[in-house]
Amino acid sequence: MNWKSEYSVGVPKFDDDHEIILNLIDTYLMQSDSGLDLNTVRFIIDQLGDYSQTHFKAEEIYMAEINYPRLEDHRRLHHEMLDQLTYIRGQCEKGDVSVVEVTAKFLHDWWNNHILLEDMAYKRFAGSELE
Ligand SMILES: [Fe+2]
Ligand SMILES: [Fe+2]
Repeated sequence: MNWKSEYSVGVPKFDDDHEIILNLIDTYLMQSDSGLDLNTVRFIIDQLGDYSQTHFKAEEIYMAEINYPRLEDHRRLHHEMLDQLTYIRGQCEKGDVSVVEVTAKFLHDWWNNHILLEDMAYKRFAGSELE
């Protein structure tokens, strides 16, 4: 799953973040398909954790600025993903690479849905504000 223009949420910085994150998820999926390397998996998960945290924070500030009414629900979804990433990171640190296979599809689906449904909702709201 690579970033496509229909994923655009109307904020170029967030589109860039999404592209980086989706590329990391793709690499994560490839790891789960073809023989795992623990160091690579750890690196991907660290990157994913860092990018997600920075990205979520920036989105939350933006949603507050535009007075997005569903900010709290959206924030809760972000926190759930950060908890998942912390869990995966913990399992990797224990050397349990089976966590990658178990979570790869979940991460892929979560990010796909999150961008196309949840992030798109603040885009629509921001657009309607301008009219
Ligand atoms: Fe996002
Ligand atoms: Fe989001």
